Amino acid sequence: MKRLDFFSESLRNLKEVGTVTRSSRYLCRNVANQIAFDYADVIVELGAGDGVITREILKRMKPEGKLIVLEINEVLAEDLHKIKDPRFSYYQRSAEELTAILSENKIDKVDYVVSALPFTVMPKEVTKNIVVQCKNCLRLNGKFIQVHYSLVKKGFYKMIFGNVKVNFVFKNLPPAFILVSELREED
Ligand SMILES: C[S@@+](CC[C@H](N)C(=O)[O-])C[C@H]1O[C@@H](n2cnc3c(N)ncnc32)[C@H](O)[C@@H]1O
Repeated sequence: MKRLDFFSESLRNLKEVGTVTRSSRYLCRNVANQIAFDYADVIVELGAGDGVITREILKRMKPEGKLIVLEINEVLAEDLHKIKDPRFSYYQRSAEELTAILSENKIDKVDYVVSALPFTVMPKEVTKNIVVQCKNCLRLNGKFIQVHYSLVKKGFYKMIFGNVKVNFVFKNLPPAFILVSELREED
């Protein structure tokens, strides 16, 4: 999808998309750098847009890996339909259905959840519902990787996971944060 098409579709659905620019290549690479691809059997991506992060993940993912992608905007997702890769499954369904989709795929646990969902503009209860589902589907030491343009949700992830690390990516419009929480054993 052309940058301008992403801009106009995002503008029409600003509350749902949360930004008018897709992630820069620097941001996509930095998100993928958070993943230990040798050990990642199953990765989930929420809010894939036109698939810029998706493609970076597929570039690095092992041949027998599996990438489950959820994106609700059908215009942005036109590019996702063009991805022909046996490791990739796309659902035009809400991230709120994550647990159900994994169960339909007979997947019990996943290694990483990568999300660019605009939680800062989504209702709090919807955000909590999705993030708790992400936590519940992660294997031990699996990671939740979230892209944001501010740190307002940092305390929320700390509350849910007990830990959160922040990476800053300047080369993005706007500059972005990648927040990473790990599923650790409860004390
Ligand atoms: C900030 S954009 C990120 C797009 C792309 N991943 C990127 O980094 O450029 C957020 C995306 O989340 C999608 N989205 C919003 N709510 C969603 C939901 N409940 N389930 C799945 N996708 C959703 C939007 O349609 C949009 O494409």
